[in-house]
Amino acid sequence: MSLNIIIGAQWGDEGKGRIVDYLAAGADFVARYNGGDNAGHTVNVGSKIFKLHLVPSGIVHPHTTAVMGNGMVIHPRTLIEEMTALRAAGVSIAPQRLRISPAAHLITPAHRALDNANEAARGKGKIGTTGRGIGPAYMDKAARRGLRMADLLTPDFRERLQAHLLEANRTLGLLAAPELEVEAEVESYLNQTSRLALYIHDTATELALALKQGQSVLAEGAQGTLLDIDHGTYPFVTSSSTVAPAALTGLGLGITAARDARVMGVTKAFQTRVGSGPLPTEIKGKSAERLRGTGANPWDEFGTTTGRPRRVGWLDGVLLRYAVRVNGMTDLLITKLDILSGMGKIKLCSGYTVNNTLVHDLPGGADGLAACAPVYEELPGWTEDITRVRRWKDLPKNAQNYLEKISSLAETPIKLVSLGPEREQILEL
Ligand code: GDP
Ligand code: IMO
Ligand code: MG
Repeated sequence: MSLNIIIGAQWGDEGKGRIVDYLAAGADFVARYNGGDNAGHTVNVGSKIFKLHLVPSGIVHPHTTAVMGNGMVIHPRTLIEEMTALRAAGVSIAPQRLRISPAAHLITPAHRALDNANEAARGKGKIGTTGRGIGPAYMDKAARRGLRMADLLTPDFRERLQAHLLEANRTLGLLAAPELEVEAEVESYLNQTSRLALYIHDTATELALALKQGQSVLAEGAQGTLLDIDHGTYPFVTSSSTVAPAALTGLGLGITAARDARVMGVTKAFQTRVGSGPLPTEIKGKSAERLRGTGANPWDEFGTTTGRPRRVGWLDGVLLRYAVRVNGMTDLLITKLDILSGMGKIKLCSGYTVNNTLVHDLPGGADGLAACAPVYEELPGWTEDITRVRRWKDLPKNAQNYLEKISSLAETPIKLVSLGPEREQILEL
């Protein structure tokens, strides 16, 4: 039995897609368990760059079976476009290798319209959502009136969809937002969803059996720990559980499936966030521009899903320790170390002062961050290009020092260090 759970240890965009692609070489199943097309996971293979929003990143390896679990919310048009793009790039997409849970929820045009109308109504207090309808879809799920993949197969799906859109129009009216053209939306939606029915499969049973038979399952988290609905910087979070335990509920696995699981937390070598909310180690000015990049490189800090520039800062060791705790992290995977080359001095947040007291762990939950001021250790940087380094001993001493410091702050061993976006630009420890 082998379950590996990949989670984001920060505010998303840590490079999970890139890591999942690397680890999927040794996995039988790759399974997404939360979120929807608010996620944007990038996988570089040679000259090809895949930007995956819904389909698990491991699909690029032909031997894998990709699973979209019950914890997900699925926008049919995005999924169809993604399947088409993958096929065009030579990736086989067939019901034998892409399985969608019947209990996964559907995102409709009403959810997207409501997401945008809610954000507009929040004004200055907006969350900065991706506008993909994630919040409203999970609201309908919690209110027990959502539409699920299994509903596509029922004779009254059209009527239920119509009723859902009409109900949404009432709310949109109250928010003074444009209403949807119900009949046109229904036709177009049914046209899309009819192409997905073939992919519905009892994924929970299949995964449980696979684990029992000794096959390996890689669970691919979306978003990150600090965007988790319970453990993140509420209310500036997403609407799903992003942390490692959610891999079980979001795939329909029991707790014993995690008995020997590795929980691998992906963190960038610095901090980023897109959207509103606290970011204690945020920096502006020259160093920030250096970390973010100009947008000229595909890996520069601009959102994969929305293209928005990401806010940047120094690595926050207190939040990393928090992510280790709430996920039960067993391994650390560090990405984008290459970006720090040539930075001169590197700062690492090793504690906070709260009411004049130094702390190393987050006081209360992540929503108490506003009262915290970061305390930094300043470390010497390195100038060497490290993008071709494949052995620990070839890393500059100061890069080794920085990694050792991170590992000791997080009290977690580092398993992989990524030194570029390409598959082979990785160092195994
Ligand atoms: P995800 O949402 O966690 O999968 O991350 P994204 O794909 O949204 O953003 C990560 C970006 O960084 C992508 O453009 C990756 O190709 C790129 N990337 C990942 N790891 C590295 C790395 O080690 N170095 C560099 N330069 N880019 C990386
Ligand atoms: P991946 O999987 C970074 C952020 C949004 C916003 C908040 C709520 O690529 O790491 P939502 O649309 O989910 O209601 O937006 O969450 N957000 C992400 N930020 N990476 C993501 O996914 C994100 N998914 C949502 O920017 O602040
Ligand atoms: Mg992303």
